[in-house]
Amino acid sequence: MSTKSVIVALDIGTTKVCTLIAQQNSKNIEILGVGSHPSNGLKKGSVVNIEKTVASIRASIEEAKLMAGIEELESATVGIAGNHIYCFNSSGVVPVKNKEITQADVDRVVEAAKAVLIPSDREIIHVIPQEFKVDNTVGIKNPIGMCGSRLEVNVHIVTGKTPLIHNLVKCVEQAGLTANSIILQPIASSRSVLSMEEKELGVVLIDIGGGTTDIAVWKDGSLVHSQIIPLGGNHFTNDLAVALKIPHNEAERIKLTYGTVLNQAQLNETYLTVQGLSGTRAREVSMGYIAEVLGARAEEMFNVVKEMILEKNLQADITGGFVLTGGGALIRNLPEMAEYILEKPVKLGYPQAFGGMTSAMQHPKFSTVLGLLQESNKFSEAMTRDEKKEDESDMFDKLGKSLKNVFKEIF
Ligand SMILES: Nc1ncnc2c1ncn2[C@@H]1O[C@H](COP(=O)(O)OP(=O)(O)OP(=O)(O)O)[C@@H](O)[C@H]1O
Ligand SMILES: [Mg+2]
Repeated sequence: MSTKSVIVALDIGTTKVCTLIAQQNSKNIEILGVGSHPSNGLKKGSVVNIEKTVASIRASIEEAKLMAGIEELESATVGIAGNHIYCFNSSGVVPVKNKEITQADVDRVVEAAKAVLIPSDREIIHVIPQEFKVDNTVGIKNPIGMCGSRLEVNVHIVTGKTPLIHNLVKCVEQAGLTANSIILQPIASSRSVLSMEEKELGVVLIDIGGGTTDIAVWKDGSLVHSQIIPLGGNHFTNDLAVALKIPHNEAERIKLTYGTVLNQAQLNETYLTVQGLSGTRAREVSMGYIAEVLGARAEEMFNVVKEMILEKNLQADITGGFVLTGGGALIRNLPEMAEYILEKPVKLGYPQAFGGMTSAMQHPKFSTVLGLLQESNKFSEAMTRDEKKEDESDMFDKLGKSLKNVFKEIF
């Protein structure tokens, strides 16, 4: 099998590192290997311990390689999130050179939109065109070939703190791979969970992970806002551990087995036996109390989302409602609670199936890595196109050699 036809996706999450190895042929992707290993070196989506992160990445890659029967891998498409991510919208305008708009005009106008002042400790991760305007015609997705004299673009820019991006890339490299492209995690999750119709209609993806909740707001098929909220499933577990005075692993067990965020009268009459902290006896706790603790955190989380929507003035755009994904979305009754607070339809989002995907992979905690794989496929196609260009002009520096080249523009 040619190494070029093998693509790799790496989701370095707060609770797990997941690797997917797949084979791509023409337009299909076939998953060959899956590796998932507990993650110990991240906090709120950012690397805080390189050694532990590298060990988790290595273990996850090895597992996937073993399953795929592949010994050597070169590079991976890597997801990024974390509290340090900051996204904003910008615009640019250029005169059209020869009346008919070419790729070069599109490149120039996107460059112009990128020319904004960014703090010296930040780097641009994505510049994503939302819509083009040719003279007075708005809402154009692809202006190439159109006639006009003035080309404008609105873009969504994703930035991250340089040292934290470097740390992530360094971990991937120390684990034996190069990061051929870095993609914001909610963009990847959106790719695997949302349909084109939903993105056109206006929808908010909420990926509730262990350490962060990642938001992507889509309207008219474009990404209009993205944000990382430093709150995730682990906060629900911690709240239970503190409120019930129980160890963390016991709190996680209770959350997964009995956790709900809606208190109903009958829950107050149902009691569970919980393991106390070491040296203390097991105790009886009402399920109603557990629901109250988890419910308070869920309320806080969705109120943060609601404030974000109001602040960005996006209420009218979200005709399609909200889609919850990520492992943390599975606490019982979370969609009902979200619907009550956000006052729009809310549903659970599962990754769409494609080649080689087992039913075990159709779980919200795999939305990001599956989306990364799909984006990776697109990236490989773009690379092949660029390599052809390189042969012709010898102008294009090889991708993947420097950090600068790791970032990709999503069109
Ligand atoms: N069935 C379930 N019910 C409730 N919570 C669950 C369930 N399964 C997983 N979770 C929670 O999901 C969280 C992990 O989700 P996920 O695997 O998407 O996170 P991650 O990608 O590792 O983290 P992040 O994206 O924040 O960096 C944990 O807090 C875990 O307790
Ligand atoms: Mg995640």
